[in-house]
Amino acid sequence: MCGIVGYVGPQRATPLLVDGLKRLEYRGYDSAGVAVMNGKGVETRRAAGKIARLEQVIAEEPPLGTLGIAHTRWATHGPPTERNAHPHLSHDGTIALVHNGIIENYSALKQSLQARGYVFHSDTDTEVLANLIQEAFAGNLEAAVIEALRQVEGTYGIAVISSLDTEKIVAARKGSPLLIGLGDGEYFVASDASAILRHTRQVIYLDDGEVAVVARDGYRIVDLDAHAQDKPVTRIEWDLEHIEKGGYAHFMLKEIFEQPTTVSNTMRGRLILEEGFSKLGGLNMTREQLLSVDNVIITACGTSWHSALIGEMMIEELCRIPTEVEYASEFRYRNPIIGPNTLCIVISQSGETADTLAAMREAKRRGAHTLGLVNVVGSTIAREDHGGIYLHAGPEIGVASTKAFTSQVVALALFTLKLARLRDLSVERGRQIAQALADLPKQIQSILDRAPEIEALAEEFKRASNFLYLGRGYNFPAALEGALKLKEISYIHAEGYPAAEMKHGPIALIDEMMPVVFIAPHDAVFEKVVSNIQEVKARKGRIIAITTREEPSLKGQIDYEFRIPETVDLLTPVLASIPLQLLAYYIAVKRACNVDQPRNLAKSVTVE
Ligand code: M6R
Repeated sequence: MCGIVGYVGPQRATPLLVDGLKRLEYRGYDSAGVAVMNGKGVETRRAAGKIARLEQVIAEEPPLGTLGIAHTRWATHGPPTERNAHPHLSHDGTIALVHNGIIENYSALKQSLQARGYVFHSDTDTEVLANLIQEAFAGNLEAAVIEALRQVEGTYGIAVISSLDTEKIVAARKGSPLLIGLGDGEYFVASDASAILRHTRQVIYLDDGEVAVVARDGYRIVDLDAHAQDKPVTRIEWDLEHIEKGGYAHFMLKEIFEQPTTVSNTMRGRLILEEGFSKLGGLNMTREQLLSVDNVIITACGTSWHSALIGEMMIEELCRIPTEVEYASEFRYRNPIIGPNTLCIVISQSGETADTLAAMREAKRRGAHTLGLVNVVGSTIAREDHGGIYLHAGPEIGVASTKAFTSQVVALALFTLKLARLRDLSVERGRQIAQALADLPKQIQSILDRAPEIEALAEEFKRASNFLYLGRGYNFPAALEGALKLKEISYIHAEGYPAAEMKHGPIALIDEMMPVVFIAPHDAVFEKVVSNIQEVKARKGRIIAITTREEPSLKGQIDYEFRIPETVDLLTPVLASIPLQLLAYYIAVKRACNVDQPRNLAKSVTVE
């Protein structure tokens, strides 16, 4: 989603800001801009479309100066045009502002500002804030920002500069991630550490309600009552190479191929094979607390919601604890039943998804113990949960989530194993699951080694207009995930369905034009899936099946078969998802789609 970069120091700001914006491209955006203090006033350059277009505009007349702010915008209020691109200037041009988030009461504020003579030049909610700051300005930028923020409702991560208070950037956060970077004689503001990692590893994450004043000679952080805040400095431990393609054509392909390693990293130091047990240091729950869990709610969005569905089945099967999965966006607005022994698991790759964060806060408010399964270290969910399990999958840059999904399923399996063994699960069964987890990296690699087979399949199906993905049990969520991957990056309409439920409607769609992907490992529901395959074949559907062994009853029924290794039922979605990710990837590439930055999508959805 939208990205923010700010810089103050001895270097020329514009190239540095543009470089930072490029590092944020993966988040999804549709226009971009910079504003730099040029010694006399604020100079802005903005462009609709990609950063390359902004660079052309800048090249015509580069703004000169050593302090500035920049932004990539993902349109919410108003189309992705140059006039709606950030930074936005206040009515008199003295304030420049970049903003992530949504000002919910902007319409009323705009009307009253217009009544007081303010003229607006964009359709955005952001411009309201620039004008409120101008109106409140009495010589000190942070005081004006604080005064303006008191009037707005909604969410924001902002960076503001002023030609009347020229030596500082003021940044503030409520509900939209923001950090400051501490360099050597220079300071940065960013919505994501990747924007500034070339320059510094030392960062301070702002919390909601905090305002940072960043100047050449240092920084200060205050709350909205101007009280100084003492904040810890965090060191970023990952490297720039993690956010580079490393020879792969796309980040998505790199991330698919990283999965033997990322899955190992999720398990590293956590699996005790001989005891069939797992060690999870960050749960912050005593044995007694774990044993007294009465029910589990898992909440998430998108791909993370799919892994949640797999987690639900694991926990119910092995721990025998009633578990429910909720879309975070629904959970937060319906009056959920949460008791003192409710455990709420919150799953998010980014740790910043607005709905997931709000759902977690709601669960906490109602007294649940919250556990975050999060990939991004230091993200808001990771900082606000009671305990959690980091995925350790490394930065995921491709908008379509791949390695985070497999790591989420593995983290859920580790958690289930621990909880189940504390309860009634036998050592033998625990060992079997632990061994199956340990075997996953090699098994994933063996699938990746056969990627060319999937590429050939993609060639066969690249012109399809619809796809159906069917699975049962643990592989119903895998079907949903396969369909989501395809539609996100290739723009082919795809639906995931429980294989038997297909008879209650989608079967009407099946004819010789309809590719149907079955996820059919030899698991507890295999025989049932065989019947569903026959039902589709009888209607001439073109069947692609992900299977684990030869099955006589399927002879002549399947058009394309791809075998994956066998594992315990609960881990089959990890292996099944690899060919599905590859299929979506290769089809999208063959359709000349922008795989890493699909249209309209954002990597991290930080608005409701
Ligand atoms: O960062 P999160 O895991 O909270 O993100 C949730 C969804 O926005 C995300 O999984 C989305 O569905 C991806 N585009 C899936 O590929």
